[in-house]
Order: sequence, then C-alpha cells, then structure tokens
Amino acid sequence: CYFSVSFPSVFQYIPPTAINSTLRLIALRQTMALLSIHAYIIPGTDAHLSEYIAPRDARRAWMTGFTGSAGTAVVTQTQAVLWTDSRYWVQAERQMDCNWELVRDSSTNSIANWLIREVPEGMEIGFDPFLFSVGDKLASANRSLKSLPDNLVDKVWTDRPPLPPENLFRLPDNIIGRTWQEKVQDIRQQMSDNPYKPTAILLSALDETAWLFNLRGNDIPYNPFFYSYTLLTQDDIWLFVHNQRVTEELHAYLNASCQDSLCVQLPGYDRVRNELQGYVEGPGVRVWIGTEFTTRGLSEIISPKEKQLTSAYSPVLITKAVKDETEERVLRQAHVRDAVAVIQLLTRLEKTVPEGQETELTAAHFVDECRSKQNFNRGPSFETISASGPNAALAHYSPTNESCRTLTVNEMFLLDSGGQYLDGTTDITRTVHWGTPTDFQK
Ligand SMILES: *[C@@H]1O[C@H](CO)[C@@H](O)[C@H](O)[C@H]1NC(C)=O
Ligand SMILES: *[C@@H]1O[C@H](CO)[C@@H](O)[C@H](O)[C@H]1NC(C)=O
Ligand SMILES: *[C@@H]1O[C@H](CO)[C@@H](O)[C@H](O)[C@H]1NC(C)=O
Ligand SMILES: *[C@@H]1O[C@H](CO)[C@@H](O)[C@H](O)[C@H]1NC(C)=O
Repeated sequence: CYFSVSFPSVFQYIPPTAINSTLRLIALRQTMALLSIHAYIIPGTDAHLSEYIAPRDARRAWMTGFTGSAGTAVVTQTQAVLWTDSRYWVQAERQMDCNWELVRDSSTNSIANWLIREVPEGMEIGFDPFLFSVGDKLASANRSLKSLPDNLVDKVWTDRPPLPPENLFRLPDNIIGRTWQEKVQDIRQQMSDNPYKPTAILLSALDETAWLFNLRGNDIPYNPFFYSYTLLTQDDIWLFVHNQRVTEELHAYLNASCQDSLCVQLPGYDRVRNELQGYVEGPGVRVWIGTEFTTRGLSEIISPKEKQLTSAYSPVLITKAVKDETEERVLRQAHVRDAVAVIQLLTRLEKTVPEGQETELTAAHFVDECRSKQNFNRGPSFETISASGPNAALAHYSPTNESCRTLTVNEMFLLDSGGQYLDGTTDITRTVHWGTPTDFQK
C-alpha cells in the first residue's frame, strides 16, 4: 500500500477534518512552563510500541489532528511542528490547523537537527520514556533531555477515551498447537541455555504476551491484543493485565497447573514498573529484554546495565515466528475462508459494476460482511481499502461518504482488505478492471 508521491488532484477526496488545536496547545504549554521544559516530543505510539494503537493512546493525533499511523510532533512555547513521511503529507495538511507546521524536508531538517537549532543550549527537552524504545535516538548535542514519566498530554487530555471494557478470552483448544505451559517451559529452556544466564524475561510487545498465554483481547482496533506485560523467571510468572477483565474461567485456565513453577500471578497492569523495580533490586538478577519493543522507561528501571541482557527481539518473538504444524494448518484454513469472502465480492462486482450499482463503500461493506459471517472471524484486520480510479493512488485510502466513487467499467478498482480470524490473520490486495483497460492503465 506504500506510495510516495502526493498528487494535488487527490485533495478533493480527503474530507476536511482539521480540529482547532488552540486550547490543547495552550494547556500543554502551561504544563511545560511549570516544568521549565523548552520543547516536548509527542510520538505516535503506545507504551508497547505498537503499530496499531487504541484511541486512548492517540496522543499525537489528539494534539495535532493528524491521524496517520506514522509521525512525531514537537511543541515549544512558540512553535508546533509535525514530522511524517511523504505518504501522509496530503492527509496531514488537511487534518492540521494553522497552529501546526508540517516538515517536508525531514532528511535535512530531522527532529534532532530541528531541536538543536530551536532549543537554546542549557534548555531542557522533555519526553515520555515509556513511549520511546531503548534504541530510539533522541537529540542530545548540548541539550539535556528530561525523562518525564507522567505524560504531559495525558495531563491536559480531559476527555481521553477510557479503557475498552471487553474481557480477555482464550483461544479454543482445537486451533492451538502448544499449551501456554509448554510455551513457558520452552522459553525457560532458552533462558537456561543462554550463556549470559538471564534470570528473567520481560515481555512488552502485546503480541508476545497474547501468544505466550494463547489469550486474546480487543483493546486495539483491528488487532486481537490486550494491554499486557509479562515477567517470567524460572520459578514465577507475573502477568500484568487489567484484572477486572480476567474472568473466573480465565483464572482457572491460568492456574490449571498451579504447582511448582506454573502459577500465574496477576499483580495488575499498572504495577509493572514497581514489580520490575522490586525484582531488579534482588541479588544476582539479569533481565532479558528485546530492545525493539521495550521502552526506554522500562529499560531504565533495569539498572545498572549489567542487570540487562539485550537482543533486538525477545526469544518469544523469535520462537513465535516459527509456526508449528497446527498453526500452519489452521492458518491455511483461515486463508481459504478469507479467499471465499474476496471471491464472493468479485463475483458480485462482475454483475453490479456494469449496472452502475456499486460504490467503494458498498463494496467495502460487502466484503467485511462476508468475512464477519465466517467461522472464527473477529472483524477486519485493518480498515478496508476499496478504491476506484484516482482514489486508488492515495496511500492508505479508505472510502468515506464524501470521497466515495461509483465503480465503473472504465476505472481500475483496488481492494486491499483482510480479516482477523482466531486461527489466522489475512491481508490480500487485488486490482481489477471490468472493461478494456487503456495502455496507460496497463
Ligand atoms: C480556535 O479556538 C480558539 C479558542 O477557542 C478561538 O479563539 C479561535 O478563533 C478558533 N480558531 C478557529 C480557526 O476557529
Ligand atoms: C556544545 O557546547 C560546547 C561548549 O559550549 C561548544 O564548544 C560546542 O560547539 C557545542 N556543540 C554543539 C553541537 O553545539
Ligand atoms: C493462582 O494461585 C496462586 C496461589 O494460590 C494465587 O496467588 C494467584 O493469584 C492465582 N492466579 C490466578 C490467575 O488466579
Ligand atoms: C454516510 O451515509 C450513510 C447513509 O446516508 C449514513 O447512514 C452514515 O451515517 C454516513 N456516515 C457518515 C460518517 O457521515
């Protein structure tokens, strides 16, 4: 879906959704002034460095108006600036009001360069360490970075969306190849085999904990994840989740083999910093973390550095990447179901498009509906991209009432859609033409 050129002609297809950011910026700047912070960095991710985030974590979008999936904002007392890549320039210009400036020459005007230019020496740049990975490079040349664990946007975001209420649930036994107990034993074996002798593993990415316990949730749109961390040692298992969403049945599931080292403790999601701190204070400990998905904030708790064992990815991500026989089998079945939905749509379009009966929105709804009726479906895996003619040239387009085109035999149609199934995630793109394509179209 990536496209790096923005066409002026696509402006008309994006609805004007700019918000008035004046009061939000005033509030943020007040909190910055109280803390003597000259600049504040607002990234677009969550505390798990997720690619898709829940509305309550969309701090950059709330502040700027820009809802694209990539981008970082910086605010000073006099400036408000957004960096995003060229795929999103058109959208950012449409969604941000005049308080905001969009940086287009980010190769020469990187965030670091901008901060060094705009922030006087000796002044502090504030950031939330729980929204940056261990590996993220932040500007530093003669400017001091101030780690602020209490997020400043959260302080002023009065109508921040609440936690989604839905309970966690377990995967059905017939689609899993390994029980969570087997997976835990496998990861513990990898800890023992590691020459650096880690005593614990900390899991931060949401797919890591979901995979380890064969659990799913519905906290993040289009993703089967729930807010979570795991701290695993040879003797203990701490699962950090919102306990009010753990049903009686799940308590039983998690403690089904509660003897020796397979009891699961549920300290509560918000306890991860304290429990990790407490663990790290113990003698002879070493915590294994994957630097790509562990935040700087959590990594700083594991100090001194000798108490860390780092690799780019945790052993859980590496192990999870290799599918077992059951996973392979059910994933194929999910793809067969998914193909049926796409074929149902394409068959229908062959009839309805020449009759002028179909729009981008009706096509998108139809394929979403077909998937939703299938076994194990839990909704689309991203917002369906159903795009005709020029709309198909817009990266990450999805139809709205304002932008929606009628499908015709003269234009190409691009469908990029997928489903979340309990047994697999799908993502398929097809480009079709129902008439005689011109040489240019070919
Ligand atoms: C934005 O909101 C501020 C504060 O309420 C107001 O003064 C300003 O006129 C608004 N700007 C626009 C363009 O509506
Ligand atoms: C940092 O400050 C020192 C001393 O004030 C100065 O010599 C140096 O050029 C500065 N470096 C940058 C990158 O601004
Ligand atoms: C499992 O049992 C232990 C020991 O009784 C208890 O501390 C823990 O809270 C239980 N865990 C769950 C998930 O119910
Ligand atoms: C789009 O139009 C449909 C039908 O008129 C309406 O039900 C729906 O609420 C509209 N959606 C938006 C976002 O305006």
